[in-house]
Amino acid sequence: MKAIIPIFGLLLVGCHQPDQTVNNDYWKPIYPEQYQSWKATDTQDQRDDVLAEHPKMVVLWAGTPYSKQFNSPRGHRFAVADVSHTLRTGTVKEGENQLSASCWSCKTPNMPELVKQMGEAEFTSSGFHDVAPKMANTIGCADCHQGDNHELAITRPHAIKAMAKNHQPFEKQDHNWQGAQTCGQCHVTYYFQSENHNKVNIPWIFGSTAEEILKYYDTRRYYEWLHPISQAPMLKARHPEYETWSRSDHAKQGVTCVSCHMAPTESDDGQPGHSHQVTDAISNFDSVCSACHDSESALTQQLADNKARISTLRDHVETQLLKAHFDAQAAWKAGANWSQMSDALVSIRRSQWYWDFAIASHGIHAHNPKEALADLNTAMQLVEEARLQLGALHRQLKVAEVDYPTINSKAQAQELIGLNVEALTQEKQRYIESEVAKHWPEAAMRGY
Ligand code: HEC
Ligand code: HEC
Ligand code: HEC
Ligand code: HEC
Repeated sequence: MKAIIPIFGLLLVGCHQPDQTVNNDYWKPIYPEQYQSWKATDTQDQRDDVLAEHPKMVVLWAGTPYSKQFNSPRGHRFAVADVSHTLRTGTVKEGENQLSASCWSCKTPNMPELVKQMGEAEFTSSGFHDVAPKMANTIGCADCHQGDNHELAITRPHAIKAMAKNHQPFEKQDHNWQGAQTCGQCHVTYYFQSENHNKVNIPWIFGSTAEEILKYYDTRRYYEWLHPISQAPMLKARHPEYETWSRSDHAKQGVTCVSCHMAPTESDDGQPGHSHQVTDAISNFDSVCSACHDSESALTQQLADNKARISTLRDHVETQLLKAHFDAQAAWKAGANWSQMSDALVSIRRSQWYWDFAIASHGIHAHNPKEALADLNTAMQLVEEARLQLGALHRQLKVAEVDYPTINSKAQAQELIGLNVEALTQEKQRYIESEVAKHWPEAAMRGY
C-alpha cells in the first residue's frame, strides 16, 4: 500500500481534470435567464474605427501593432473572434516570433484554465497562435464565477496580485466592490513583462493613477518601444476603466460597473437578479440612473458635452505630440546626440503616456471626465516643454524649419509611417481562410 500511494499521488498531479464550468454551455440549463441575457451580447455588433476618427493616433503609435488597427469595443461574445481577426495579432511566419499567448488573457475563460494546467510562465511564453485552438469560449460565466455556483471570483493570476497590491484584495471586499473587480480583471491597464516570460503585469505598485504608474515605469527605466520618428522610449496605456472609475463620484457612492452596465432584473417568479447583457449603460436609465438623475435627456446631453470637451483637448495634444516627434527627428538629422536629446525625449514619453491613459479608456466621458481632462492638461504641459527644449536645440544646431506632415486620413497616416496595410490585410485574410476558419474553434469566426 505504502508504495502505491505516492505513485497514485503523482498520477493525480500529472493529469488535470478538465473543468466543465469553463464551457459556457454547461451553465445554460442551470441558470437559463443569466445565460440568455449573457448570450444577447452578440447583438451588440457595432464598433467604430478609432484610427479613422483620429488618424494622428496612427503616427503617435508608429512602431506598435496599434497603428495597424484599433476599434472601439463591442459585445463580450465577439471577444475571441475580434482578437483572432485583428491585424494586430498578425499571422504565423517562418522564423518570426509569435505574439505572446498573454493576448488571450482578457478574452476567454479558457485562459485561466490553461494557466492552471500549464503553469503561468509556460502559458505566457507560448505563442498566441499555438494555443488558439484551445480558446473555444468567449468571455463567460467562469470568468467571473467560481465553481458551478454563482459566487463571484476573479480568475486571472495577475489581477489577483494587482488588487492586493492596490490594497483592495478581492477576498476582503464587499459583494458590491467584488462585482466591480470581476470587470476590473480585464478593464485595466497592463503590460507584458518581456524579462519575465511575457507575463501580464498590472503596474500598480505605487498606485493606479497615471502619475503613480508612470513613476513605476520611470523607476524601472522601462519602455515598451522606441518611437521610430523621434527615438523616444515610449509607454503604452491600455483601457484603464477600473482605475479611472475607482476615483469617480460614482465609486464614492458605491455605484459600480455592475450597477450601471448590468441592470437589475426580476424573473417570472419574482426572483431578483441582473441582466448579463453587459451593454451601454444609458439604456438602463429607468432602472438604474433615475434613482439619482432626473432627466435622461439632460444626462445624454451631459455625456455628449463631456465627450466633446475631451475630444477638443485631445486633438490639441495630438497635434502637439505629432509635431514634437518630428521636432526630435529634425534635431537628430542635424546631428544632435543623446545627451542633448534626453530631456526632450523623456518629456515626449511622459506627455504621450498621460494622453494615452486619458484616451485609451473607453467610456471615460462617463466614468471620470474630470480625470481625463486633468491628464490631458498634464500631457499638454509636458509636450510644450518638450517642444521648447527641442526649439532651443534647433537654434543651436541651426535647424531653420521643420517639415510637419498634415494628417487627413488613416490611410495617409499609415502610408507616412511606412505601413502597407493592404498587403497586411490580404495576408491576414489568407491566414484566416486557411487556418482560423478551418482549425480554430467556432468562436473565432463569430460575426465574420
Ligand atoms: C475576461 C475579460 C473581461 C471581463 C471579465 C469583462 N470584460 Fe468587458 N470587455 C472585454 C473585451 C475584450 C471587450 C471587447 C470585445 C470586442 O470588442 O470584441 C469588452 C467589451 C465591453 C463593453 C463594450 C460593449 C459594447 O457593446 O460596446 C462593455 C460596456 C464592457 N465590456 C463592460 C464590462 C463590465 C461592466 C464587466 C464586468 C461586469 C466586464 N466588461 C467584464 C473583456 C472583459
Ligand atoms: C455611472 C454608471 C457607470 C459606471 C459606474 C461605469 N460605467 Fe462604463 N459606461 C457608462 C456609460 C454611460 C458609458 C458610455 C456609453 C456611451 O456614451 O455610448 C460607458 C462606457 C463604457 C465602455 C465603453 C463602451 C463602448 O462601446 O465604447 C466600457 C468598456 C465600460 N463602460 C466599462 C466599464 C467598467 C469596466 C466599469 C467599472 C470599472 C464601468 N464601465 C463603470 C456608465 C458607467
Ligand atoms: C463579467 C462578469 C460576469 C460574467 C461573464 C457572468 N457573470 Fe453572473 N454575475 C456577475 C456579477 C457581478 C453578479 C452579481 C451582481 C450583484 O449581485 O451585484 C452576477 C450574478 C449572477 C447570478 C446571481 C443572480 C443575479 O442575476 O444576480 C447568477 C445565477 C449568475 N450570475 C450566473 C451567471 C451565468 C450562468 C453566467 C454565464 C452565462 C454568468 N453569470 C456570467 C458577473 C458575471
Ligand atoms: C446612487 C446615485 C447615482 C446613480 C444610480 C447614478 N449616478 Fe451618475 N452621478 C451621481 C453623482 C453623486 C454624481 C456627481 C454629482 C453630479 O454631477 O451630479 C453623478 C454624476 C454623473 C455624471 C456627470 C459626470 C461628470 O463629471 O460630468 C454622469 C455623466 C452620470 N452621473 C451618469 C450616470 C449614468 C449614465 C447612470 C446610470 C447608468 C448614473 N449616472 C447613475 C450619482 C449617481
